[in-house]
Amino acid sequence: MAVRRVKLVVMAALFAGAATYSIASRAAPALDYEFFKARVQPVFLQKRDGHTRCYVCHAESNNAFRLERLSPGASTWSEEQSRKNFEMASILVNPGDPATSRLLQQPLAPEGGGNVFHSGGRQFASKDDPNWKILADWVNGEKL
Ligand code: HEC
Repeated sequence: MAVRRVKLVVMAALFAGAATYSIASRAAPALDYEFFKARVQPVFLQKRDGHTRCYVCHAESNNAFRLERLSPGASTWSEEQSRKNFEMASILVNPGDPATSRLLQQPLAPEGGGNVFHSGGRQFASKDDPNWKILADWVNGEKL
């Protein structure tokens, strides 16, 4: 009887351990600031064929995707501005789930899994676009 009791306790402990482990392994990844600054921000400044740069419409825009305005003559954002862009963009994504992240859906063509309407156009034809993949890597917690 006593032996059986011990066995049950051990099994319960193992089970609890396994449950904790599976929750931990499914936890959302942390978004990496350095990756955002070095890889993601340039996507917002880059000119794509047939499209206006994200920055042109989204610098101090009045929708949720609101980039900092570059200082006169600057070709990229300062540390302080990059931090603000990071905070802003982080709210528009679901860490670990690029497909449901607004930042990635909005500029993606509907045939490619994106949102139907974006005034800024279908900047990425599909999820195979290398720049879309950079955004997806960031959302998946990629580091430099
Ligand atoms: C020609 C102007 C223009 C360009 C270029 C543009 N956008 Fe937009 N974007 C808009 C406007 C206007 C809205 C708000 C209305 C809408 O959703 O269409 C918007 C909305 C968004 C939203 C949703 C914001 C919210 O309030 O929920 C995201 C995210 C977004 N854009 C990302 C991008 C990204 C990323 C790029 C570049 C790859 C880009 N946009 C390029 C004009 C633009």
